[in-house]
Amino acid sequence: MRILFLGDVVGRAGRDALTGGLPALRARLRADLVVVNAENASHGFGVSPDMVRAFLAAGADVLTLGNHSWDRKELVGYIDGEPRLIRPLNYPPGTPGRGATVVDVPGGRKALVMNVMGRLFMEPLDDPFRGAQAELAKHKLGAGGSVQAILVDIHAEATSEKMSFAHSFDGRVSVVVGTHTHVPSADYRILENGTAYQTDAGMCGDYDSVIGMQKGPAALRFWKKVPGEKLAPAEGTASLSGLFVETDDTTGLALRVAPVRQGGLLSQAFPDF
Ligand SMILES: [Fe+2]
Ligand SMILES: [Fe+2]
Repeated sequence: MRILFLGDVVGRAGRDALTGGLPALRARLRADLVVVNAENASHGFGVSPDMVRAFLAAGADVLTLGNHSWDRKELVGYIDGEPRLIRPLNYPPGTPGRGATVVDVPGGRKALVMNVMGRLFMEPLDDPFRGAQAELAKHKLGAGGSVQAILVDIHAEATSEKMSFAHSFDGRVSVVVGTHTHVPSADYRILENGTAYQTDAGMCGDYDSVIGMQKGPAALRFWKKVPGEKLAPAEGTASLSGLFVETDDTTGLALRVAPVRQGGLLSQAFPDF
């Protein structure tokens, strides 16, 4: 299965790059499954139902979230009706929405997409490790199983937590990809037991910024401790940033992995497979 994952879409620049670029990118990569983290799409904070519809129409199959899941409060009443939009599964029981979803993939295949959130340096939620383990117990990966691929978006600040998560589930899922830090890491690879991994996919946003937000006001926050200008997304051309993975439908594990960086300020990267 050919799987494209794109990191946090930030503001209008990120939205425009995604809706403008994804149809051609999806076609060029011949992607079977496209997953996009949408937690910062609405002015940096959350995502609106209209944006969800636009991203799905542009070619995303599943959208994930993170610590900004509820910044657009309309999502609380919307998320239960849209199974292609998931939020971290380790929110407390009773939280609206779901933390994992199974989608149909061309060729009669199915894929499980899961979203978990780390706890180090973040709002503490339930245990993402045990939460993921419980969800995985409901599925069987590979030919003859319930799903032929499993992708987990781990939305976390700490590299150590992301790596620990990936090694814990190495060989049991197809892809573990990190989000939230908004900067693509160079450690994309296939782990020992066959899981593709990248500590952070980077963001779909303007990199002439502080993690997607206008650099002046963002930097000032570190200089002055009185409230200053409100943070707003940077408005230059965005880079689409993420990871592309090809998996074996028989084992459900990764065969090849490569970064994707398209447009904007970042050095460009495109898979050669
Ligand atoms: Fe983010
Ligand atoms: Fe985040």
